[in-house]
Formats: sequence, structure tokens, C-alpha cells
Amino acid sequence: MTIHMMPLAAPPLHLVILLGSDSPATFDCPADKIKTQGNGLDTATRKFRMAAYLWQAYTAEEMAKNKFGRRTFRFEETWAAESISHRDKIPRMVPKVHVLRSERTVAEIRDLDIAQQNPNGKRTGELWDIAYQTVEKHFAPKTIYEKKYVAVLILDSKWDTSSNVITGHAALGGGSGFIQMGIFGSHSLHTWPAFIEDVIPSFTDCTRIDTRIVANDAGQSGSYWEACCIGIGAFLHEVGHAFGCPHQPDGIMVRDYIKLNRSFVMRESYSTRTKAPGLRLCMPQDECHWHRLDILRFRFHPCFKSTSDPPFLFESDKPQVYGVGVAAIIVSSTGVAWVEIYINETLQNYYEVFPKVERNLTISVSEVLSKIHPAEKSKKIKLSIFTIGNGKVDIEDFMETAQSSFKLPGGEKAYQGMKLGLGGGSRSEAILPIGSNKVLNVIRAYSGSALNGIEFIFDDGSSSLFGNRGGSCSEFPLDTRRGETLLGFSVRSGFWVDGCDILTTLGRRSPFFGNSSGGSLHTMIPPRGYRVVGVSGTVGQWVDSFTILYV
Ligand SMILES: *[C@@H]1O[C@H](CO)[C@@H](O)[C@H](O)[C@H]1NC(C)=O
Ligand SMILES: *[C@@H]1O[C@H](CO)[C@@H](O)[C@H](O)[C@H]1NC(C)=O
Ligand SMILES: *[C@@H]1O[C@H](CO)[C@@H](O)[C@H](O)[C@H]1NC(C)=O
Ligand SMILES: *[C@@H]1O[C@H](CO)[C@@H](O)[C@H](O)[C@H]1NC(C)=O
Repeated sequence: MTIHMMPLAAPPLHLVILLGSDSPATFDCPADKIKTQGNGLDTATRKFRMAAYLWQAYTAEEMAKNKFGRRTFRFEETWAAESISHRDKIPRMVPKVHVLRSERTVAEIRDLDIAQQNPNGKRTGELWDIAYQTVEKHFAPKTIYEKKYVAVLILDSKWDTSSNVITGHAALGGGSGFIQMGIFGSHSLHTWPAFIEDVIPSFTDCTRIDTRIVANDAGQSGSYWEACCIGIGAFLHEVGHAFGCPHQPDGIMVRDYIKLNRSFVMRESYSTRTKAPGLRLCMPQDECHWHRLDILRFRFHPCFKSTSDPPFLFESDKPQVYGVGVAAIIVSSTGVAWVEIYINETLQNYYEVFPKVERNLTISVSEVLSKIHPAEKSKKIKLSIFTIGNGKVDIEDFMETAQSSFKLPGGEKAYQGMKLGLGGGSRSEAILPIGSNKVLNVIRAYSGSALNGIEFIFDDGSSSLFGNRGGSCSEFPLDTRRGETLLGFSVRSGFWVDGCDILTTLGRRSPFFGNSSGGSLHTMIPPRGYRVVGVSGTVGQWVDSFTILYV
């Protein structure tokens, strides 16, 4: 007998209900609904789970509409005697909801000063910190290799009728390290479906919100179906941020989720709110969508990995950028997937390269200029480049990067790659002579806990030094009789340059000089048709920025 097992390959989205240290674990709810549904932790858990299923199904459907199959994110699951239908009670695997208690009290969570929607609030970002601390502690130990994706429902949100503010609520999402998180309040939870049978009734319930008891979020939640759209939709928007989506021109990542209902109903009835008949048939163009750029992020996102993907695809590669005057060449180990063009942080245009696999993609200046409005052409153009392997590189000033050149001592023009490291020290270069008889014999590397310098030694005894001679000195001789010369470097760098090894044209690699576990690894080899003529960067106590020069 053969057993085939498909291991779950993708990191899950974790669901967390956050409670104050002294929380009674109930949520804002009209009295009649307290009677029929309850407003305790069980109900909250069921509703949160159902919303999460809707996010997942909706996203899968959107991916399919974009021809990427029904690819979606998954949850951490647990065995529970519950089901998504109220017709059966058969135990199943269901999304696990972690119930976490903060060290803060309910009164602290409901402090008006930290309510995000309070225009006079003085610390309106603090609910993020409260959630973050609790979540980070729960998911410890922290590792740099693994990110946790978490959706946090703040159960102690309270509609404060005296100040007309939803306390204990903030709609925030993002993260840049261990925890990637979206947070949201429970003020509309009473309108969310708890079972699959409730989904359509919840998205069509025209009952007016009674603001003496519950909130009308953003003034766009005057009825139960609207509160349900905004609650589930805006929370999904924050989860989108947790997955790395920025705001987009349209869709979930703006505020189009006020019509999220249309993805779950086929036809709309007469609306007492707008006094207008609803759509006779809700067509895809009437729905709220994930923007194509969100869809692309998801297609290559580790949380959306499918068991049929190649195993190492999502180990992010570090694309390198090389200006060559009329263009920039992007070298990536997995291939560029798509390119976004920004001016002043506003998206101007984008284009897709995938499903073609372009490991050396040429982006020409004329091509980029043709994709932006003529009035914007003189402004600074930023490109964000995303690779199939979940790598990303931002070119802050595309024209400068493509066109910047370096004048060699002989007057020739050399191009330079994008700098690694943040810089700050003083400029330094070491140049290989071109068109002369001098031969590069030996490369010296000076290093300690970081890279201090690189020195080229020529056959006539002369030399050219980049950086300083601090740390210890190592020599790497080249086999000049066989014509071996410098091909490039493999560099470890973060804020500064931790170290490097030297790559040669005969395929040899030197030992590593510097701190071999600092920063992250970047390969610097000039694009095809070009050769290295030097190194350039800035140097303080050690090398704090580095790039190669090539012709
Ligand atoms: C669904 O949302 C749209 C847009 O907000 C609205 O016009 C429509 O009335 C809603 N449909 C129902 C059935 O409530
Ligand atoms: C960039 O955008 C901001 C905000 O939209 C605006 O205030 C600023 O003037 C813009 N800068 C340029 C250089 O266009
Ligand atoms: C090398 O880099 C790692 C990671 O940044 C750091 O933890 C370590 O202390 C560094 N080693 C030295 C000798 O500086
Ligand atoms: C891409 O460029 C690298 C050098 O930067 C070269 O080694 C490689 O062969 C090129 N690949 C293709 C497909 O052109």
C-alpha cells in the first residue's frame, strides 16, 4: 500500500480574540440579538470563524477570476465539536481562534485617548501596541526566519454614546518583522453571520442601527447589512495590509468593501435606505474586488503557497539592479514577476512580466517614460520590482539608477550597480585599468567583524585601494596564466557591508572575508556583456556602502 501525504506547505493566518485582563468577554449587541444569538465568547468565536471563511472563499474566488486558480490562504486548524452549519453538530477541523488576555484592563483598552476614531485622541496608535505585545508574547519565541500572520479582533470595543466614539477599536494593519498583523474592533460583530445559513440574511438585513445601543461605523453602517459589509470588509482590508498590500486605486485596499455584500448575494431587493430598487443581477463588475496588484502579491505570497509549487520558490531572492545608461537590468534568481511605477508615492502604472521567466530583465528608460503621464516625466520616478520568488527591490530614483555613470581615470564612462548598505562614510573607489598592459595579480581583503577594504595589486607592483586597511588582511591570488580575472562579488550587507567573497571568471570563489552571518546575501555580477572595472562605495570605520563599476 502506498500512502501519499501532502504536507501543508504554507504559513497560516492566525485568528486572535483579544480581551482586557478583566474583560467579561462580551461584545456590543442589541437586546433582541443577545436573546437569539448571545454576545459571549462562543458566539464571537463562531462569527469570527465564519468571517474568516468568507475572507478565504472570497479571496479564492477572486484569484480564480484572475486566472490563478482557487489559490488562497489557510488557517491554523483545531478539532472542535462545531461546524459552520447549524444543521449538524459533527466535530470537524475548524480554524483555531486563540483567545488572548492583554495585561491591560478593559478601562485602559476603552480609554478615549487611544480610540482611533476620536479626533481629539492623543495616543490613537496605542491599541496596535497593546495588541502587538500580547500577540508577540503568545507566539514567542521570535525568529527571524518565520513571520506570523495574525488577525486580531478586539472584543472589548464599546460604542460610547456620550462621546459618539467607538472605544477599543482601531483599524490598522501591517508589520515588518516577526508579527504581521491586522486589528479591528467588535462593534459590528452582532451583524456578522455565525453559520453559513446566516450569510445571505446578514448581507441583506435592512434593520436600522439604533445608535443609542450600537455604533454606526464611519457613518456608513446605518443598517445591519451595511455594518456587516464594513465590519467584515474593513477587517479584511487590514488583513490585506498584514499580507503586505498597500492602499490601491480601487477594491478592498481602499473602501470599496462597502459593497462586499454583492459577492455573496445574486440579486438585491428594494433598498429602504436609498429608496431604490436593487440590482436585478449582481454581475462581477458590480462587485468589490481585490486589485490586480493585490492578486499578484497573493500569487507569490508564502501564505498562498500551494502544494504543487516548487518547494523553494518562496525563499525570497535578492534582485540586483544594474544601470546601463538607457536602461536598468534587473537580475533575479527566480525572475521578475511585475513592475510598479510610482511618482511621489502615487501609483502611475504597472506591468506584468510573469508568466514569462525573466531572470535578467531590461527596463528601458523610454519604456518607463511611455507608461507615465507626460506632465509627470520630469519628476522622480520610483520603481518597485517584485520577483516570482517573493523578492522585492525598490529603485527610489529610476532615471538616476539607469543613467548614473562614473568617469574612469582614462576618461571612459563606467556604469554602476545599485549600492548595498546605507552609506554615510566618505567616498572611495578602486579601479582596474582598462586598455593598459597592467594585469590584476592579487586581490587583498581587509576585514574583521565587517568589511574594511579591498585592494587590487597589479603585476607592476602598483595597487588601488578601496576602503581602509583595518582588520586582518587576506590575499586571494588569481591564476593570471590562465587569464583568470575578477567576475564579481557575493556580498553580505544590511545597514553596512558585513563581508564578501570574490568570484572569478574561471568560476572560483574565494573564502569569505568579514562576518559571514551578518546582513543578507547579494550577488553582484555585472549583466551579460559587461565586465567589472572597479568597486565603489563609502567607508567610515568600515565599508558602509558598496557597488561594482562595469563597462
Ligand atoms: C449591496 O451594496 C450595494 C452598494 O453599497 C447597495 O446599493 C445594495 O443595496 C446592497 N444590497 C443589499 C441587498 O443590501
Ligand atoms: C507629493 O504629494 C504630497 C501629498 O499628496 C504633496 O503635498 C506634495 O506637494 C507632492 N510633491 C510633489 C513634488 O509633487
Ligand atoms: C555578525 O553578524 C551577526 C548578525 O548581524 C551578529 O549577531 C554578530 O554579532 C556579528 N559578529 C561579529 C563578530 O560582529
Ligand atoms: C543573466 O546575467 C548573468 C550575469 O549577470 C549571466 O550569468 C546569466 O547567464 C544571464 N542569464 C540570462 C538568461 O541571460
